Amino acid sequence: MLQIQDLSVAYGRRSIIRDLTAGPLLPGRVVSLLGPNGSGKSTLLKALAGLLKVERGQVLLDGQDLTKLSFERRAQRVVYLPQSLPAAVHLRVFESVMVAARASDLDPRAQDASPQRILDVLGRLGIEHLAMHYLDQLSGGQKQLVGLAQALIRTPRLLLLDEPLSALDLNYQCHVMDLLAQETREHGLTTLIVLHDLNIALQRSDEALLIRARASWSATAGRTRSSRPAPWPTSTRSRPGWKPARAGCPTC
Ligand SMILES: Nc1ncnc2c1ncn2[C@@H]1O[C@H](COP(=O)(O)OP(=O)(O)OP(=O)(O)O)[C@@H](O)[C@H]1O
Ligand SMILES: [Mg+2]
Repeated sequence: MLQIQDLSVAYGRRSIIRDLTAGPLLPGRVVSLLGPNGSGKSTLLKALAGLLKVERGQVLLDGQDLTKLSFERRAQRVVYLPQSLPAAVHLRVFESVMVAARASDLDPRAQDASPQRILDVLGRLGIEHLAMHYLDQLSGGQKQLVGLAQALIRTPRLLLLDEPLSALDLNYQCHVMDLLAQETREHGLTTLIVLHDLNIALQRSDEALLIRARASWSATAGRTRSSRPAPWPTSTRSRPGWKPARAGCPTC
């Protein structure tokens, strides 16, 4: 369970996130993080991942304040997939996922870097045929899927994904969201995912946090699963009363 309490983050003297309180975000649920360009979504994820120092506030994961942990200890619990794709190295996809699994000591299962488990993760993402391809010879979307494989194989407590669908075609976007929901439920993860597509957010996530640019942060979680697209609220509060439903994604 994730609880963000009075969190403030700044770049130098420029305050980006001010006194944000959000949550509790419950295990097993996918939460979309929505908002316009420059509103602070990536900044928040980096702060939660420990890549940015917070000015003040708490980030409680299962009751433990992440801001008090060393980067190494935090990395055992939190996996972060950045918005920009990392420069690809000359490593095979299979090897890169194995390195990610071995780098992790999250739990004994996560350390299992057996070929079968790696192929299984690649298979669930539909990229097992790329296992022996080199990372620096992949397309943008293929690299993004490999990044997701590297994140999923670590089975963290908190999974932070910054626009992981941005390079994917529409069919893959829905497939990946379904897979994330399944992994999140199965392993009791808390998954926070930055999205720009409101249809996908409405159809494929359990809750949403909305962020407004040039305003102090405020956010409220609420259900976003809906059988049809709903008009997005103009305030930072998510609309109450949306009913959960398994429905086809209107984007697909
Ligand atoms: N390293 C940095 N140093 C200073 N300011 C930064 C830095 N990174 C981001 N900012 C500023 O912080 C604000 C929030 O940026 P952030 O990247 O978090 O936005 P975002 O919501 O993720 O936007 P987008 O949807 O375009 O990815 C922006 O005004 C940006 O200019
Ligand atoms: Mg961003």
